[in-house]
Amino acid sequence: MNKSVEPSYSRADFGEDFVWGVATAAFQIEGAANTDGRGRSIWDTFCTKEEAIADGSNGDVACDHYNRLEQDLDHIADLGVNAYRFSVSWSRVRPSGDGPWNEKGFDFYDRLIAGLEQRGIQAHLTLFHWDLPQALDDRGGWLDEKVLDCFVEYAQEVTRRFGHRLASICTFNEPWVISILGYEKGVFAPGVQDRAVAMQVAHNILVAHGRAVRAIRATSPSLSTGIVLNMSPIYAASEDPADTEKAKIDDGLIVRWYMDAICFGRYPVDVLSYLGKDEPAVNAGDMSVISEPIDFIGVNYYTRNFASTGNPWDVSSTGNQVTDMGWEVYPDGLCELLCRLHADYNVCKLMVTENGAAFKDEVIDGFVNDLERQSYIQNHIAATLDARRRGVPVDGYFVWSLLDNFEWASGYEKRFGIIHVDYETLERTPKASSLWLTKYLTGAI
Ligand code: FCB
Repeated sequence: MNKSVEPSYSRADFGEDFVWGVATAAFQIEGAANTDGRGRSIWDTFCTKEEAIADGSNGDVACDHYNRLEQDLDHIADLGVNAYRFSVSWSRVRPSGDGPWNEKGFDFYDRLIAGLEQRGIQAHLTLFHWDLPQALDDRGGWLDEKVLDCFVEYAQEVTRRFGHRLASICTFNEPWVISILGYEKGVFAPGVQDRAVAMQVAHNILVAHGRAVRAIRATSPSLSTGIVLNMSPIYAASEDPADTEKAKIDDGLIVRWYMDAICFGRYPVDVLSYLGKDEPAVNAGDMSVISEPIDFIGVNYYTRNFASTGNPWDVSSTGNQVTDMGWEVYPDGLCELLCRLHADYNVCKLMVTENGAAFKDEVIDGFVNDLERQSYIQNHIAATLDARRRGVPVDGYFVWSLLDNFEWASGYEKRFGIIHVDYETLERTPKASSLWLTKYLTGAI
């Protein structure tokens, strides 16, 4: 059990312009799956597959955020944050992925952004947090050039309507997860298991990213535009040279594949030769599209990883705490990662766009005293400050997540929220971690 010791830093240590936020994603919280003309996405379909979701659940109701928008906006404001990161459901604003726009869908995001404006909170919008319209997947999904065109149109339309009201826009959330978990391992939608397809999807998504950046720039030139990547430091599980080599390749597949492509316009040579026949087809000009300059890279950090060629890595072997996801708690890894990204890529601006933890919460007398989550957040904020003090331009930190929500293949069993959701009544109750965050952000501690 973690002790809750007050951290030795204050909000002021980060300076006035630092972005403090909470993050969510459309499919994980909105619900209202069949309301106001929303179209289906690949996650609606994936949830109907037997054994795809641990508790057999789906996103039909989720946190019912679509119908409880005002209340949730009040909760965000109560936290004392100055920013909110959310995603737009593509199939809510364009049910078939192309074809007519759905005004009722846009109305929802208009109300969301207006509600943030009224409360003095910046809006950080993500275009794609995994919920590809099903109609586009039926046509070949990310392997179909025309689907890339549709994404660019979608990026342009969202920017045209909302660009001037946003603090930032992000094209994709975690392309590694989309491609590898969705198309190689098949544990996320759409559930394909084919490495060559996965790597082609990884490439095509980066092309879609670069094309969308150009479209966003043409529509709203001063809008801060970026991408969000999931990254971790990766260590060899032993001194065995095979493990060292594996760690290098894993780093290549997770970090360098995306960072080298976006920052330098090339893929890492060692990864290309490792992929062999599964290397994606790259058209002339693709790499310059992918490396279109952007304003920030968002970093989603939860844990570090170990690479092993023998027995799978035993997460408890370091003696560090392990979360309900089975992820080691390792705040130093965040500082290490941020410093490395700065040193190797000299990115002009980084933001921690997701960081948080699932623990088994106990509701006692209606309250969740989640001191483990609280200290997880405190220690990762400290790691972010550490990186800033070492000269890394990291200008924002977003807690994942505002609310307990639909945690993809884990369903509702894993709770990441700093606000508890009772899935019977949908009642929201701030947990201890959120009360601490408010005190911290309002300078009360
Ligand atoms: C990230 C996702 C986010 C959430 C957290 C726990 O990979 O971006 O939606 O599921 O993990």
